[in-house]
Amino acid sequence: MTSESLHPVPGPARRTVVAAVGAAGIAVALTACGADDKASDSVGSGDGGSGGKSSGGGAGGTELAKTADIPEGGGKVFADQGVVVTQPAAGTFKAFSSKCTHQGCAVKGIANGVITCPCHGSQFSATDGSVKKGPATSALAAANITVEGDSIKLA
Ligand code: FES
Repeated sequence: MTSESLHPVPGPARRTVVAAVGAAGIAVALTACGADDKASDSVGSGDGGSGGKSSGGGAGGTELAKTADIPEGGGKVFADQGVVVTQPAAGTFKAFSSKCTHQGCAVKGIANGVITCPCHGSQFSATDGSVKKGPATSALAAANITVEGDSIKLA
């Protein structure tokens, strides 16, 4: 009787400790599983849902240049974006594809309201992209830009 009554004291205490560790272990395991599920969920929906949206929205906010970078009567070619931005009149900015409609060279010099292709000498209007001089026969494609303050952005 005496020995039996002594044993239960350390017994439950030890079991309590074990149980607590066990519960903590389970909690950690559950947390890990939950985190995994959330991570894979958000990756999955992010790919499908927001991928297209964010690239569309991002393009609108891409600053191409400062208005001060574009000389009046001239312009500037942005090779990475494939566009040429001109300022045919003070405060008026235009943008066109920098790809020559003749054989696809990148246009280069912009001066006196004329965009010139270095390959075969075609010239285009810096105001509307129309052909000023062949061999190109069609106008440069217009590109959409927006001017916000002193910032020119690709639309
Ligand atoms: Fe531009 Fe020929 S490719 S003039």
